[in-house]
Amino acid sequence: MYNNNAVKKTIILFGLLLISVAGFTQSMAFNDMQVGGPVKNCGELSVANYELPDGINVAGAMDDMPYALVAGGSKGIGYGIAEALAKRGYNLILVARHMDTLLAAKSRLEAIYHVHVEVLDKDLERDETATEIAQWCREKNIKLKVLCNVAGLGGSKDYPSLPLDTLRYMVRLNVESCMAMSYTLLPLLEQNAPAYILNVASMAGLAPIPAKNMYSATKAAIVFFSYSLNYQLKKKHISVSCLCPGPVFTKPEIVADTKKKLGAIGMKMALTPHKVGEVAVRKTLKKRRLIVPGTIAKIMSGILRILPRGIAAGLY
Ligand SMILES: NC(=O)c1ccc[n+]([C@@H]2O[C@H](COP(=O)([O-])OP(=O)(O)OC[C@H]3O[C@@H](n4cnc5c(N)ncnc54)[C@H](OP(=O)(O)O)[C@@H]3O)[C@@H](O)[C@H]2O)c1
Repeated sequence: MYNNNAVKKTIILFGLLLISVAGFTQSMAFNDMQVGGPVKNCGELSVANYELPDGINVAGAMDDMPYALVAGGSKGIGYGIAEALAKRGYNLILVARHMDTLLAAKSRLEAIYHVHVEVLDKDLERDETATEIAQWCREKNIKLKVLCNVAGLGGSKDYPSLPLDTLRYMVRLNVESCMAMSYTLLPLLEQNAPAYILNVASMAGLAPIPAKNMYSATKAAIVFFSYSLNYQLKKKHISVSCLCPGPVFTKPEIVADTKKKLGAIGMKMALTPHKVGEVAVRKTLKKRRLIVPGTIAKIMSGILRILPRGIAAGLY
């Protein structure tokens, strides 16, 4: 006699295994998709040609090098992205609210990678900021080739336990600033095409998460926005990539939250900002549409994308 419970458990386990394998395969295939095929050397300045090996000093050539703007580039994942770009010889514009961390990032990056780093202390949540930054870039005649929209607000509390003002701030920073920066800087990117936009979403944007309701909704908006924008900008030779990391240990609260909510698998999935930045930049320059750094996160993201939304929300 078969035990009914045992049979049920076996079927569920088998199902989950199939989903994992299918999800992983889909995720790998998806992540390997490129826009317009592999990057070619088109004779003109192509950022993919600037894959300089570690330790190469690009001083002297830096005035000719294109710029990458990292919105939220003074610390965390944004700093990891800035570092990976500097390593490839890009001059940088870092945007954040606090001048002390911006200046610390500037002196570290200039000392190690010998690139120019400009810093702008601006609040990306404000309506005027994107226009002011675009104006500043035009006045300085910045040769902008890469735009990275990184700054965002998350945390362990979400709808409805956060005050309405904080939720509005989350929507403005996570969604509106990304939309506005892409909009106002598009003409400059177009002038310097082929060019690249990297939008930072999250694995949380791949499924509805009741405990992170508005956060996952804002990040889902970024995933959809990036896919559509990539399609719209194809003819202008601007590719748009969307980074969807799992947990990244940028601050102690994230370590504690990951341990509490995702347990051992979350701790294994977590990556450093340095690693995430490196993967993000490498794949952005290869024109990947969706970037999920780390093997466990790739498997999880594959599962999340094929599960019906009701089940995904229940699982979380
Ligand atoms: N860490 C994770 O586990 C994780 C996982 C998935 C996705 N993400 C996403 O990755 C992005 C970066 O996260 P993170 O953990 O690296 O954050 P972080 O360490 O807090 O760094 C955020 C960066 O953005 C800047 N910033 C924040 N608010 C800003 C504002 N209103 N105006 C201008 N700059 C602002 C910060 O500088 P100032 O404070 O000086 O302004 C800093 O440079 C976010 O979009 C987040 O949702 C994070």
